[in-house]
Amino acid sequence: MSEKKFPEGFLWGAATASYQVEGGIENCDWAKAAREGKVPACGRACDHYNRFEEDFDIAKSIGHNCHRISIEWARIEPEEGKFDEREIEHYRQVISALRARHLKPFITLWHFTLPQWFADKGGFEHQDAPQTFARYCKYVAQKFGNDCRHFATMNEPGVYASNGWRRGSWPPFQRWPGMGLLKTVPEHRDFRGQETRWRNIFRYFRVLRQLARAHNAAYDAMKTAAFGLEVGLVHQVILFHANGNPLNKLLAVIMNWHWTHSFMRRVYRKCDSIGVNYYLHKKFGDTHMYDKTDMGWDVYPEGICDALLMLKRYKRPLWVSEAGVADAADRIRADYIVRLVRCIHAAIGKGADVRGYMYWSLLDNYEWSHGFSKRFGLVEVNYDTLERTVRPSASVYKRIAEENAC
Ligand code: BGC
Repeated sequence: MSEKKFPEGFLWGAATASYQVEGGIENCDWAKAAREGKVPACGRACDHYNRFEEDFDIAKSIGHNCHRISIEWARIEPEEGKFDEREIEHYRQVISALRARHLKPFITLWHFTLPQWFADKGGFEHQDAPQTFARYCKYVAQKFGNDCRHFATMNEPGVYASNGWRRGSWPPFQRWPGMGLLKTVPEHRDFRGQETRWRNIFRYFRVLRQLARAHNAAYDAMKTAAFGLEVGLVHQVILFHANGNPLNKLLAVIMNWHWTHSFMRRVYRKCDSIGVNYYLHKKFGDTHMYDKTDMGWDVYPEGICDALLMLKRYKRPLWVSEAGVADAADRIRADYIVRLVRCIHAAIGKGADVRGYMYWSLLDNYEWSHGFSKRFGLVEVNYDTLERTVRPSASVYKRIAEENAC
């Protein structure tokens, strides 16, 4: 196959999220749920909070030139309206460490975990949640607006609402009746503490609306706080497609509307760019047997092309802010990356304005309700010794990044 060159300045890196790697975060809703035995404990995770320099050295050594992190809201605003300057200083050092290594920082302001005080008030269901969230985002923009240009207000609002209010697998564990029968995408696992009620259907849609409002309010607030920021959000595209059957095709159109467009149309006007996460697809009427990742998800990196083209209509620069596989044996990761990157290239050829790719994840980490059992990292973490070992697939990605081609 001929070499495919990427546009000059295309960025290559990996992503992490604060709660999944940092360790020591006890004042958020996930930590409380873990204390109550509803989700696995996160504890010190990868201790990235103390080892970020070592981790960024590794990222540099494997050819990366950008890196996505998230900031933990519960650290910055541990009590409502009270901001912790020491934690600001910590993240300032994190950003400086990235820049010192020429890793362009991408910052997500909220990646699933809520400060406990905010969760206690009802989280995003609270009427004032958009303003409360916007105040936090504005504060961070004021503090870091000179150090970083690329911000996303939130990660995957659709996944957050779906797992929290539809499947009931994440805090606040609200579930629709009959969810066990609906298997559009693989279920996570069984959970304790779920509340199954009909009214969760309305709550789910309300939370989605609130999240859109929160993003829009945060966008406006951040723009007044600092000059020249790129503010967007990160959306996980689940690609729904179909075989030739017209009914299946209709089903795919409806599901893509529900999952992607009904939310994006509420927020895209207040997005300078859009982060696209891609992991899952559902092809209606398909009987093909796919190889599986350790999550039990189909190995189908080719879906990234249509996922990106789906968002092309919003006419914004796109970042592939996550895509990767859980693969403890490093059996499929290299091939997945190569196929994925070729399909990103194809999407660019078809007019999608894609500017970079951040593999999920730099490190093995806390995979939410699965605890530490799933290993997405380019770098393996030994959770007993915290030793990091670069996996062989990282060198395949390194070559792509360094040559800016695949
Ligand atoms: C999330 C990550 C998660 C990954 C793999 C994305 O939905 O942003 O936090 O670890 O998928 O499940």
